[in-house]
Amino acid sequence: MREPDLTYQLLRNLTSPVVAITAQRNGKENGMISDAAVRASIVPMVPRVSVYIHKFNYSHDMIFETGRFAMHLLHTKQLDVVRRLGFVSGRDRDKLAGLPHHRGVLGVPVLDECFAHFECSVANVMDTGSSTLFLGDVVAVGCGAAAGLEPRGELLTATYFRANMPAEWRIEYEAKLKDAQQVAAEMSRNIKPVVWKMS
Ligand SMILES: Cc1cc2nc3c(=O)[nH]c(=O)nc-3n(C[C@H](O)[C@H](O)[C@H](O)COP(=O)(O)O)c2cc1C
Repeated sequence: MREPDLTYQLLRNLTSPVVAITAQRNGKENGMISDAAVRASIVPMVPRVSVYIHKFNYSHDMIFETGRFAMHLLHTKQLDVVRRLGFVSGRDRDKLAGLPHHRGVLGVPVLDECFAHFECSVANVMDTGSSTLFLGDVVAVGCGAAAGLEPRGELLTATYFRANMPAEWRIEYEAKLKDAQQVAAEMSRNIKPVVWKMS
């Protein structure tokens, strides 16, 4: 590939909204950020989402082992949630402490404040070497504790986040991204077949 940087910049146009992904394993709760989530079904009776999660993130094994996660669309007033969940690992601290949430019907943490949330049961996975693509059956939805089923605010996209994050966050964000890209580069070609235990 001759122009990897140009290719990467063009691919950034394909990114999803910024989502918060939460999980729970053996009583330990966690959350992370992704901008690689999409709707994965056109069938209203079979609502599905998919999301790529790197294997080196703490959330990865929590989701792989439990087969459950919640995906939250965020609104543009929630940049602080992106920093809290997306800049440090839950291996080192309880990132959901102080972020109001409750347990959803699957037992996963659901943020009280969000644009919308989807509780998901993993239906299948695909290995990419560095990450796993999780395909989730949506089993419950909501729009935050106070809002009922009507999304409020403006949806937070990756483009909005990159353009509007406070200047003092940018160096940290870009350093973290670079580190992740380096580790992912080493793992990316080592794709393994994975058979998901269908329930
Ligand atoms: C805007 C943004 C987008 C991100 N997108 C992804 C992604 O698509 N997949 C992923 O695995 N990590 C992504 N990350 C990185 C994780 O959120 C980050 O590594 C987090 O600290 C992982 O937390 P954990 O180790 O507690 O699971 C993103 C971070 C930010 C700030």
